Amino acid sequence: MTSRDSRADRRVGYARSLIDQGDLDGALSLLEQTLELAPDWLDLLILTGEIRAKLGLRAEAVAIFRHYLDLSTEDRHGAMLHLALLGAAPAPEVQQTSYVRALFDDFAERFDRTLLQSLDYQGPVLIAEATGNAPGGLGTVLDLGCGTGLVGERLRQHCSWLEGVDLSAGMLEKARDKKIYDMLHQADIATFLLEPPRLYDWIIAGDVLNYVGGLENVMTGISMALRSGGRAVLTVEALDSTGGAEGEVMRLLPTLRYGHSAAYVRAMAADARLVVLDQRTEMLRLEAGEPLASHIFTVERPSAGTAPAIGSSDLDPEPRINS
Ligand SMILES: C[S@@+](CC[C@H](N)C(=O)[O-])C[C@H]1O[C@@H](n2cnc3c(N)ncnc32)[C@H](O)[C@@H]1O
Repeated sequence: MTSRDSRADRRVGYARSLIDQGDLDGALSLLEQTLELAPDWLDLLILTGEIRAKLGLRAEAVAIFRHYLDLSTEDRHGAMLHLALLGAAPAPEVQQTSYVRALFDDFAERFDRTLLQSLDYQGPVLIAEATGNAPGGLGTVLDLGCGTGLVGERLRQHCSWLEGVDLSAGMLEKARDKKIYDMLHQADIATFLLEPPRLYDWIIAGDVLNYVGGLENVMTGISMALRSGGRAVLTVEALDSTGGAEGEVMRLLPTLRYGHSAAYVRAMAADARLVVLDQRTEMLRLEAGEPLASHIFTVERPSAGTAPAIGSSDLDPEPRINS
C-alpha cells in the first residue's frame, strides 16, 4: 500500500505501527491528516473506515464505505462487505470476485511463507489424508481455487493429470512457476464448472469455499464435473466454531470470509446428488494465533445405477445468510 507521496507513505507506516500497538484513535487521527495529502488514495480511505468500524463509530464508517463506493466502480477492497457487516447493506449471497482477486493478487508474493511459516496451514496434509493418500493413484484431478499450488504440490505425484483454476493472476503465476499443473485457468470456479474441459476423478476445494459464500452453484458444478464414481474433498470454515446461531447455515464473518455449517454443506451436497462419504472437523490453520476449525467433507458422485439419497430434510428450505 503506497501512494505517490512519500510523506503520506511515511505517515501510513507510522499509523500502522500505532494500530499494531492498539492505539486506534491515534492511528485514525494520523490517517485523517494523511488523507488530506492524498484524498484519492482508496487503500487509505478503506483503512479509515475499518478503524472507525472497530472503534464503534458506525455511522461514520458507513459514510466512509459509501464514499469509497462512489469513487470506486470495482470495489477491490470489499466496501460492500464492510457495509453488510455493519448492517447497512444485505450480505452478498456470493462473494464479489473483484475483491477476492485483488486480495490474492496482493497476497501472492507472501502467500506460501505466511501460510506455512506463520499460520501453520494444514490444508495440504488434511486433504491428502481425505483422499486416502490414494493407493493406486488419484487419476485426473481438478484443484479449485488452487492458489499458488500448496495442495497441488502435495498431490502431484498421485495424479495422472492435475488441473488448477483460480481467480487471481498473481496466485496462478506462483503456481505456474512450480511446474506441477498440467493446465491452469484464470476463472471463477462456479463459472468454470459450468463447462469443464473434461470430467475428473477427483475435485479438490481447499480453503476456497469460504471466499465464495452460497455453495449451490459450486456444488452442482462439482457434481457435473465429476465422472461417475468420482470424488471431491471440500473444506469450509466451521460456522459452529465462529459463533453461528442454532440453525444458521452461512455467515459473513468479520474477516470478510464466509463460515458454513456442516448441515448446510450436507444439504447442498444432497441437492447436487452427491453422497457424503466422510466428514471431519480439524484445525485448518491459525487465525490471529488461535486454531481455525474447518469441516472437511469427502463426497462422491454415485456410479450410474446407484441412487443417492436426495433432499435436505434437516434444513430450512430457505437458508439464512447472516452478517
Ligand atoms: C486461501 S487460498 C487457498 C489456495 C489453495 N487452495 C491452498 O490450499 O493453498 C484461496 C484461493 O482461492 C481463490 N479463489 C477464491 N474465490 C475464488 C473463486 N470464486 N473462483 C476461483 N478462485 C477463487 C483465491 O484467489 C485464492 O487463490
